[in-house]
Amino acid sequence: MNKTLIVLGTQWGDEGKGKITHFLSDRADYVVRFQGGDNAGHTIRFQNKTHKLHLLPSGVFNPETKNILGNGMVINPKKFLEEIDSLKEEYHNNVFISDRAHVLFDYHRLLDGLNEEKLGAGKIGTTKRGIGPAYADKAARTGIRFADFIAPHFPKLFSKTLSEVSQRLASHGLEIDGAALMEEYLGVAERIKPFVIDSVGELNEALASGKKILFEGAQGTLLDIDFGTYPYVTSSNCSAGGAATGSGIAPNKISEVLGVVKAYGTRVGEGAFVTEIKDGIAECIREKGNEYGTSTGRPRRIGWFDGVAVSYSRMVSGLTGLAVTLLDVLSGLETVKICTAYELRGKIIHTIPASIRDFEDCKPLYEELPGWMEDISQAKSFSDLPANAQNYIERIEKITGVPVVMISVGPDQTQTIMRKNIF
Ligand code: GDP
Ligand code: IMO
Ligand code: MG
Repeated sequence: MNKTLIVLGTQWGDEGKGKITHFLSDRADYVVRFQGGDNAGHTIRFQNKTHKLHLLPSGVFNPETKNILGNGMVINPKKFLEEIDSLKEEYHNNVFISDRAHVLFDYHRLLDGLNEEKLGAGKIGTTKRGIGPAYADKAARTGIRFADFIAPHFPKLFSKTLSEVSQRLASHGLEIDGAALMEEYLGVAERIKPFVIDSVGELNEALASGKKILFEGAQGTLLDIDFGTYPYVTSSNCSAGGAATGSGIAPNKISEVLGVVKAYGTRVGEGAFVTEIKDGIAECIREKGNEYGTSTGRPRRIGWFDGVAVSYSRMVSGLTGLAVTLLDVLSGLETVKICTAYELRGKIIHTIPASIRDFEDCKPLYEELPGWMEDISQAKSFSDLPANAQNYIERIEKITGVPVVMISVGPDQTQTIMRKNIF
């Protein structure tokens, strides 16, 4: 059986990665988040309780599994402690932060809000969690890693940072109280210290000794900073490559990539959405699927299944299997549609164009399939599904070229059909 598996989003996020990761996590020795920060919102349901996670990996509810916030993440330490404190103590002992991960400070959130304000109508629609500014500092080499956050030299380093940040904020007419921030963050660092480890060393040793590692993506391929619908993207690599750079496990050690895909499409925030549904069906799917953001509560935009986007995701992430989620939400529709190609100014294309102007001009070409009326939320195997639902899954496999190895028919852990054991 495979020792490593990446679970990642193949659309615009919120595909149900948290549910799938939690489902598989009892088979893993480690679950590693490799990118993003608390812009993520992962909802997990088991034993009649719903849990919402933002920073903590979705294996946290398994006492036997170690959960690592990897080096590729930008982590708000205050939010991390809040999330830890909100969980029962039995879930705390197995969470660790990479010493190479970057600290996301309050001023990053402030700057995120200011950047969005400045963009006005052209805003990205970020979660305002400070993600872009924190990654910008990392790339500019002005960020602070957790190794330095918890070290005795942190005050000196942070003073320098604070004086630069004060200047930046002064240009917006804002002031920060440097002394108060210093004191507050020294306290936070003290509490964070026991969680910080050399994750790169530990993960590589674990793999060498035969342990199993599950990599948990946040966001989705179309929000990837390189492969997504730039500039309407997040600031990290949510596709498979990010699992290697964001954990320190070499790419040739990772072979399986499970793409999580909603049976339809959703998007939160701005940016073109080729298969967006503009009529009452969108409202119907939104209510049935409870399509409101886990982090921000914003209503999610709804669309038909975009086969072009998911095929593109297969290409850039080397997907070896798909987990189709929220299939139950489509019950009750006369017909369902799958987008199989785009028309761009009279030309048929099968990929995501690099320029956002081109992407905005793409029109969907659909295949229509008969829907199904039955409630499928209690289905336990593929053969329990109505013929038209089976047919829909088989069309997804054919169009994307990836086998559907898991199907989710409800938010609960028990509402999961496993077609092939992949991990
Ligand atoms: P993530 O960000 O990819 O982890 O996804 P979210 O948790 O943000 O959004 C997925 C939503 O769908 C959550 O509210 C889940 O509880 C819910 N969910 C996951 N799988 C299913 C499913 O198969 N059916 C239904 N009805 N809801 C699901
Ligand atoms: P999970 O992990 C859906 C979107 C935002 C915005 C863009 C940039 O739950 O799937 P950011 O705050 O990252 O700078 O925002 O990305 N976005 C998400 N959309 N699910 C997420 O995470 C998202 N994280 C960010 O709405 O369009
Ligand atoms: Mg989410």
